[in-house]
Amino acid sequence: MGIPAATYGMKYMAEGKARIMTSKKLETVLISAGRKPAFTQGSVNPVIQRASSLVFDSVQHKKKATAGRASGEMYYGRRGTLTHFSLQQAMVELEGGAGCALYPCGTAAVSNAILSFVSAGDHILVTGSAYEPTQDFCRHILGKMNITTTWFNPLIGADIGDLIQDNTRVVMLESPGSITMEVQDIPAIVRAVRAKNTDIVIMLDNTWAAGILLKALDLGVDISLQAGTKYLIGHSDAMIGTAVANARCREAKAMKPLFETSPAPAGCFPSCLNND
Ligand SMILES: Cc1ncc(COP(=O)(O)O)c(C=O)c1O
Repeated sequence: MGIPAATYGMKYMAEGKARIMTSKKLETVLISAGRKPAFTQGSVNPVIQRASSLVFDSVQHKKKATAGRASGEMYYGRRGTLTHFSLQQAMVELEGGAGCALYPCGTAAVSNAILSFVSAGDHILVTGSAYEPTQDFCRHILGKMNITTTWFNPLIGADIGDLIQDNTRVVMLESPGSITMEVQDIPAIVRAVRAKNTDIVIMLDNTWAAGILLKALDLGVDISLQAGTKYLIGHSDAMIGTAVANARCREAKAMKPLFETSPAPAGCFPSCLNND
């Protein structure tokens, strides 16, 4: 095939295990992130690669791709194409994570991220200011799986520790909160949750601050979620969702399948920061 079956996106994520640290100014990140030559193939902007099945030069190349498919070898469209890898790289650089999973929309990012860390009988804590479809997902989908949700006051701060139960697996934040715009005391919440149970996964819907004004992972949040449909896309003309995870969640077994749900490149390309 025209593009070598090399190790792209996931390898990039693996390299970023320890968190991508950049000394670049935000303006530089915004125009350069995701422009690794292997992804852009010589063009300024990422290529739009529309693919499901791929063609390999030889059986040997195919075997290499199969062997490395869980760690970023370009193998099959669902596991990502150059377009996806560009956006993943850009998001990891922007938000400072160890990996980025992509979804067809923000609601899919939120619901899949939560779903990957809960089992029947578990409990989660969700801010009362969460975007409505997030609330619907907790009530109607998690509810029928016997996963209970406790809604908390977005301004709860350190008192969130009092709500943690033995079976609490996820704490879901959103700051500023949808419509009501409460700004949460994230450091206090993270400290209180960690003091009770370090295994709890703390997620934050970072849509309103676009991963720019709020560096969620720097504040100890495990997964920063965005409806890229908003600021990333910028022109209301496509759908995309992102989940930037820190190393421990990127490596968590539960999360692995979620890195294999590549949405159509049509939503990825305009999301690649300065495209479109
Ligand atoms: C804060 C927030 N989270 C999640 C979503 C859901 O994103 P999408 O519409 O891409 O499913 C939205 C959409 O408006 C939102 O504003």
